[in-house]
Amino acid sequence: MILVTGGAGFIGSNFVLDWFQHSDEPIINLDKLTYAGNLQNLKSLAGDDRHRFVKGDIGDIELVKTILAQERPRAIINFAAESHVDRSILGPEEFISTNIVGTYRLLEATRWYFTQAPSALQEQFRFLHVSTDEVYGSLSPSDPAFAETNRYEPNSPYSATKAASDHIVRAYHHTYGIPVLTTNCSNNYGPYHFPEKLIPLCIHNALAGKELPIYGDGQQIRDWLYVKDHCSAIRCVVERGRVGETYNVGGWNEMANIDVVKTVCSVLDTLKPKADGSSYASQIVFVKDRPGHDRRYAIDASKICEELNWKPAETFETGILKTVRWYLDNPDWIANVTSGAYQNWLNLQYGNSPQP
Ligand code: NAD
Ligand code: TYD
Repeated sequence: MILVTGGAGFIGSNFVLDWFQHSDEPIINLDKLTYAGNLQNLKSLAGDDRHRFVKGDIGDIELVKTILAQERPRAIINFAAESHVDRSILGPEEFISTNIVGTYRLLEATRWYFTQAPSALQEQFRFLHVSTDEVYGSLSPSDPAFAETNRYEPNSPYSATKAASDHIVRAYHHTYGIPVLTTNCSNNYGPYHFPEKLIPLCIHNALAGKELPIYGDGQQIRDWLYVKDHCSAIRCVVERGRVGETYNVGGWNEMANIDVVKTVCSVLDTLKPKADGSSYASQIVFVKDRPGHDRRYAIDASKICEELNWKPAETFETGILKTVRWYLDNPDWIANVTSGAYQNWLNLQYGNSPQP
């Protein structure tokens, strides 16, 4: 069995669902259920013995030790994190608690478990830390894409806390011999993506007849990967990755934000045309830029491709079509996650700008 943390969030829940399409190996899923955690994402697993959910914090060492002692997982995959850059700008504290202190405590519990494990389990055991390309900072237009050897230059509180966690993970390998692996992935998109992030926010706002807020000039570049391709990369790394190594994961899909939003609009224009015949793109507005906004991210994923024979299955065109279709087919999921506290976030983040 494996322990997944943060498995009720966007990528974690996609990972859990994807795992059971390939394996019957059970998962124990530890998640604190913050605003970003949503058990509805996993409702297709109701009554499925392969999945056991525990509500709890990765920073609760005693709880994690109890889970490890009882369940004896052969791997831990750590998705749990605060993940939204804009929230980290308005309030970094939770990011420091979960991403830094929480990861450290999860590693401490892991060290306790690993040290006393029988040698057969020690040989098999892996701790995979799921991280981001944002730790590498911002690229100029002519810079080569991020390689694993790039220096860390995080610019936001979010990326700084992820960078810190990556360093702690590394230290637990070099100092205590914990068999760790780290993946640094580019921006994901796909089903179950909370509509505070660019793509699901724009789909949701477009359908609600609201404005589509583009920060600054919209020329910031991100490298987009369909979430299922991230899941397959993580499965590759946990099974075949070299212990102590880091692997960059990306889809060779660099796009400016404005082009991403225009693509979403044109897919919506085709799948659900507006009654008045206008394009959803007419709802785009340019709003105040994010402070310290990184200009460009791009991932060189050749190491994972060549070493582990991984490659993404989706292009941006195929992935965005699947994503928009999923949101159109799941209005109840959107209605549930956008009630309550979500409205407070919109007021806080976009309050001084035109209505998003
Ligand atoms: P998310 O915010 O959607 O989900 C995070 C999950 O972690 C939620 O279910 C939340 O309840 C849980 N969680 C938060 N704090 C916790 C704690 N202290 N203990 C236990 N559970 C806790 O995030 P996501 O987009 O799914 O990202 C998952 C991981 O992947 C993160 O580590 C993130 O840094 C990394 N990542 C994300 C992207 C992306 O584009 N979303 C890209 C690269 C890497
Ligand atoms: P986001 O989805 O928040 O991911 P990240 O900041 O981790 O890359 O944002 C993706 C890009 O879209 C980023 O450059 C910020 C921009 N953006 C907007 O222009 N408007 C928005 O309302 C949001 C949420 C993001």
